[in-house]
Amino acid sequence: MNLKDIMNLKDKVALITGAGTGIGAATARLMAAEGARVAIAGIPAEAVQAVAAELTSAGHAALAIPTDVSAAAQIESAVAQTVARFGRLDILVPNAGIQLHTQDVNLHELPEEVWDKTHNVNYRGVYLTCRAGLAQFMQQGDGGVIVIVASVTALSGRSHNPAYMAGKHGLLGLTRYIAVHYGKYGIRCNAVSPGALERTPNHDIHPDAAGRAERFSTLIPLGRLGKPEDIAPFITFLSTAAASYANGANFVVDGGFSVT
Ligand SMILES: NC(=O)c1ccc[n+]([C@@H]2O[C@H](COP(=O)([O-])OP(=O)(O)OC[C@H]3O[C@@H](n4cnc5c(N)ncnc54)[C@H](O)[C@@H]3O)[C@@H](O)[C@H]2O)c1
Repeated sequence: MNLKDIMNLKDKVALITGAGTGIGAATARLMAAEGARVAIAGIPAEAVQAVAAELTSAGHAALAIPTDVSAAAQIESAVAQTVARFGRLDILVPNAGIQLHTQDVNLHELPEEVWDKTHNVNYRGVYLTCRAGLAQFMQQGDGGVIVIVASVTALSGRSHNPAYMAGKHGLLGLTRYIAVHYGKYGIRCNAVSPGALERTPNHDIHPDAAGRAERFSTLIPLGRLGKPEDIAPFITFLSTAAASYANGANFVVDGGFSVT
């Protein structure tokens, strides 16, 4: 067996949500470089269109699909558009997420709207994305791969953003459910849990970005915050045949933060 023969995505079709920036965009770039045809879904439209244009002009097959993952009809349409363009779906990466730093506050003060808004994207949005992708996989009848982007906040109660944290815990349950109940169809589902990256989701509204960076750089054994390019290889690897026996697991990529 030769590693490079199984660790590539030649002729595979991937749909990634939240792919206009950050981890999703880095994953789209890497998957395209490994031979995949990539559907770049998410909002805002300009961001997904820019990533698709960049990949297309580099000679890759890419399709921008402006999609709000909290709207069932939009994510179902994104799967349909992917199949219409590329013929099938092999890999699904539910990655879109938000973090309402200043509003997702202590639980005894947490407004319901903030809980709902967060879960509509981070949890319900992943359910809707998985539902649409699984329906396509079941119709095709020859397996499929899902890599859900969770977070190290799913591993403890430490986070100061309870809605965000609880949603990420839920994603690990969803990962395990899909792994257990769809494994017999050749469908694998794993989670990747990034640690603290240099930019968080909704970084621009973080009330103390500099303080956060300083705090994490001392808490992370590797001494630095992560980058999207630190996470994309794990999502990509788990999507290849080289990871064909990985199912139901949570792969933590955090510079050692969660074991301190
Ligand atoms: N950055 C970190 O420190 C970190 C750590 C752990 C986990 N994560 C997770 O990684 C994933 C990607 O985050 P990121 O760090 O790349 O941040 P990011 O903000 O760059 O990426 C999130 C993307 O999702 C998009 N998005 C937001 N709402 C959406 C919606 N309703 N429908 C479709 N797309 C929507 C955003 O516009 C953005 O492009 C998220 O699920 C996040 O929770 C990030």
